[in-house]
Amino acid sequence: MTTASAPGKVILFGEHAVVSGTPALGSAINLRARVIVEDLPGRLEIEACNLMLRGFSLDLTTGRVSSPGVLDAIKYVSAVLKEFHADGLRVKVDSDIPPAAGLGSSAAIVVATMAALNKHMSLGLSREEIASSSYKIEKTVQQGMGSPMDTAVSTFGGYQLVSETVHGIDLPEMHIVVGCTEKEHNTRSEIQKVQSLRSRYPDIVEPIFCAIGAISTRAVPLIRDNRLEELGHLMNFNQGLLEALGVGTRELSELVYAARGAGHSLGAKLTGAGGGGCMIALPSTAGSLSILVALEQARGTAFEVKTGGAGMRLET
Ligand code: MEV
Repeated sequence: MTTASAPGKVILFGEHAVVSGTPALGSAINLRARVIVEDLPGRLEIEACNLMLRGFSLDLTTGRVSSPGVLDAIKYVSAVLKEFHADGLRVKVDSDIPPAAGLGSSAAIVVATMAALNKHMSLGLSREEIASSSYKIEKTVQQGMGSPMDTAVSTFGGYQLVSETVHGIDLPEMHIVVGCTEKEHNTRSEIQKVQSLRSRYPDIVEPIFCAIGAISTRAVPLIRDNRLEELGHLMNFNQGLLEALGVGTRELSELVYAARGAGHSLGAKLTGAGGGGCMIALPSTAGSLSILVALEQARGTAFEVKTGGAGMRLET
């Protein structure tokens, strides 16, 4: 039996613009997906345990119960099994990362599955090979565009600056508050929406991407030097630019303003693809409590995460 785990992520700065090669800064968080692989001669089974699910649907004609989170997890795990011609195995998946929320749950499931299979089947893949195969698989299942951000952060952990290349950066841990809307999002359709705006209005969207890239680059020394007030300003700038790209929603804005207003956060922005999912807020030295309360009062689900966590690893 082999067990591996991999972290979810927050994109601190630069989502969407990164799809066109502009720098974005992401970080691993202390929520993880775990995958157990064990021998099951003659069969191939996938078992999804606790996946932090929020929605179920019941088909009244077939009596079949399904949830987008379970179906997605199974899709991603089977894509990895297929890639490595795996057979005679039971694969069990569980995850602390809310699915379809912009927190990298599918990348974490792909990376953890690959790490477990790598050991169990003695595939001999390096960490770099796991990162690039995971990126390829995530992209194929999502049928489309996307940057290597989620799979790189999940594989290597810590902070990753992603543009046309991926660079690990050594930065201190931070406490960030996450606020989730009830609405799941579809990364692929949000990316398509932004990229079609870019084709239609290149003279407007390219400068927005460029400003977002400048924000990601400026954020690095601020995190290193613990200049959190300035970092908060950058989060607010980035949120405004994401709004301009059309990926904000009323629910996300309500959480962003709740965090900045009643919660007194230093800055707040959506994280990930937008169109639903989650936002992040940066607490002041007064701590996270008032932000957590403000987000819950604004009908969000709020929790604190730590940035800079460990990447994929085998568990004993
Ligand atoms: C999704 O978590 C972030 C996007 O920038 C897409 C990507 O980087 O693949 C919207």
